[in-house]
Parts: sequence; C-alpha cells; structure tokens
Amino acid sequence: MPVILSIVGQKGGVGKSTLARAISVVAVQGGLSVKLIDLDIGQQTSVRWSTTRATSRILSVIDAQAFSAVADALKQARDVDLVVIDTPGHLSPETFEVARASDLIVLPTGTSSDDLHPVTLLLYELEQIGISKDRLCVALCRILDAKEERWARQYLESTGYRPLGGSLPERLGYRRAHNRGKSITETPETPLNERANELMASVLRKILQHVRATNRAYSTQ
Ligand SMILES: Nc1ncnc2c1ncn2[C@@H]1O[C@H](COP(=O)(O)OP(=O)(O)OP(=O)(O)O)[C@@H](O)[C@H]1O
Ligand SMILES: [Mg+2]
Repeated sequence: MPVILSIVGQKGGVGKSTLARAISVVAVQGGLSVKLIDLDIGQQTSVRWSTTRATSRILSVIDAQAFSAVADALKQARDVDLVVIDTPGHLSPETFEVARASDLIVLPTGTSSDDLHPVTLLLYELEQIGISKDRLCVALCRILDAKEERWARQYLESTGYRPLGGSLPERLGYRRAHNRGKSITETPETPLNERANELMASVLRKILQHVRATNRAYSTQ
C-alpha cells in the first residue's frame, strides 16, 4: 500500500500546491513511484503544472491527475509508493475525509497571527476527529523575516505543535520556477534550492518515521 500524504489548509495561496509539487519531485528523484492527486478540480494547479513540466525533455515526469472525490483518486493510485494529495484552499467535509485517509498531513502556513490562528484551530479539529499529533506536520511558508519566523515557531510550540524543520522564504525565483514547470527545489539559484530541500528533507524524514513505525506494528502482530 502506498504512503498517503496530503497537503491541507483553509486558506488560499499559502503554498499547498507548491509543497505538493516539490514533495512529488523530490520523491521521484529519490527513486519512488509517485502519484500527485489534484483535488482542486476548479483550478487544477498541479495538473496544469505537470503538463507544462512534461514539455521539458530534461525534467522528471510527474504523474498528476485531477479527481473530484478522494475515494476515486485512491482507487487509481494503489500501485505507487507515495500518493501526494493537493487540496483546495477551503475547508469542506472532504478535507476531513482526505485527512482521515492520509498517513501524514502537511499544513502550510504563513507567519502572521492571521495565518497561525486558523491553522491551530484546524490542527485541533483534526485531532478531534482522531488524527494523532505525529501525523500532523506544519510547514512555515512564504517567510519574509527571520524574526517573524522565530515568533511563529514559538506561537505554534506554545499551542503544542512543533513545526517542521526548515521553512520557505517568499522569493520571486520560486514563482518563476513554477511558471516553467519546475519545483522550488529546481530553481537556477542554489540558496533557494537549499532552503526548499531542507524543508523537503523534514517531510521525507516524517515519511520514513511513519514507514518504520508501520513496519514495526506489522512485525509485532
Ligand atoms: N515561497 C514562495 N515565494 C514566492 N512565491 C510563492 C511561494 N510559495 C508560493 N508561491 C506562489 O504563490 C502562488 C500560490 O501558491 P500555491 O499555489 O502553492 O498556493 P495554494 O495554497 O495551493 O493556493 P490555493 O489555495 O489557491 O490552491 C503561486 O503562484 C506560487 O508560485
Ligand atoms: Mg493550490
């Protein structure tokens, strides 16, 4: 069975599709088979991005497909190592269905209190439906200032959630990469790629921890 990782949030433009695309790229480059599922059927940002990407001869191919229902999507993705689910920028009953079906849930957020307050409410709601804290990963995105990032980390830790290591600064280079079908780890600027890779490494560590814990659980049965 694949590991299922979803990217959720109740705000638009926080970086859900950005992270979904980058995680898919890093995993494919690491030798995993990946299916990127785009549940944002209206925008289909990730599908359009993968179509742009496919016009390049040198970039790795990312298999992205849009679905309107998570159950249908998962039926089509049984034979890959990793399923990455990109979701729309609003909450709906489907958000919680996606979260329940996922092994890990990444919640991207900005660093202002207007961003952090709703994300902590969503974290509590997800815990209330039975999703344990170790499956919830907060990613600090679109960072403008190191001081604000420190404050955001303290804010989240004070509510009981430690954000993922690494963060994504707000940079034009990331947007340009997307326009060319690239991910935030594939810009022409090494420092930008290093920042993005540090955050991706944190996500991959979480996936590995999950796989190890699942294997331990099977071997003790
Ligand atoms: N760190 C960043 N620096 C610069 N631009 C960014 C950054 N992160 C995302 N963007 C750009 O901001 C826009 C919105 O990002 P993205 O599509 O990832 O957000 P989203 O959460 O998926 O939004 P939606 O809810 O509308 O689907 C995109 O054009 C993307 O390229
Ligand atoms: Mg999106």
